[in-house]
Amino acid sequence: MLYSPLTYSHKLLESRLKEGDLVIDATVGNGNDTLFLNKLVKAAGKVIGLDIQAEAIDRTRERIKNEGVYESVELHQTGHEQLGTLNINPESVAAVMFNLGYLPRGDKSVITLEHTTLIALKTSLTLLKTGGLITIMVYYGHPGGEEEKNGVIDFVRSLSQKEYQVLQYGFINQKNAPPFLLVIEKL
Ligand SMILES: C[S@@+](CC[C@H](N)C(=O)[O-])C[C@H]1O[C@@H](n2cnc3c(N)ncnc32)[C@H](O)[C@@H]1O
Repeated sequence: MLYSPLTYSHKLLESRLKEGDLVIDATVGNGNDTLFLNKLVKAAGKVIGLDIQAEAIDRTRERIKNEGVYESVELHQTGHEQLGTLNINPESVAAVMFNLGYLPRGDKSVITLEHTTLIALKTSLTLLKTGGLITIMVYYGHPGGEEEKNGVIDFVRSLSQKEYQVLQYGFINQKNAPPFLLVIEKL
């Protein structure tokens, strides 16, 4: 079976990340990606996670406490558009994960938005080191999702091919707005 877009993003990150890396989860949600990244970078590395919802941060804190996770996770209840205020060194980050849309099992009206997602993506590009990856899982079946999807696609398409490689991966014969993956690699 072919990998789902989400599984494929994990395969790419597994093969690229190593113990000690600094990584960012730009949309913590229920903490799945935060915990996934934590396992790869281990205690010597660091995961910085951001989400605007207290519910997401609280659920993830609880998982960190209960699931034997390395303690090298720093969670911020703040928008990823504020990434530039966190004093992260430019070109120091090995990967940034985005998972667009709403919090599963949460308030479906709180969604990631084109404007703030684009600010966060632009900042992420400055933080990324050479060889670093930005993964963006694009869920767009909800109200507002289509607009964000189009804005993000336009932005990543516009990136210079001398500086970045951009990949799109997803199934094209599925109904109902199937999620897809975008990956930016800094050359
Ligand atoms: C699809 S969910 C993330 C799922 C998560 N990766 C997981 O593993 O469960 C999207 C998350 O983005 C969060 N979000 C929305 N706007 C945001 C913003 N401006 N900055 C950071 N997080 C935001 C939502 O609160 C929601 O938890």
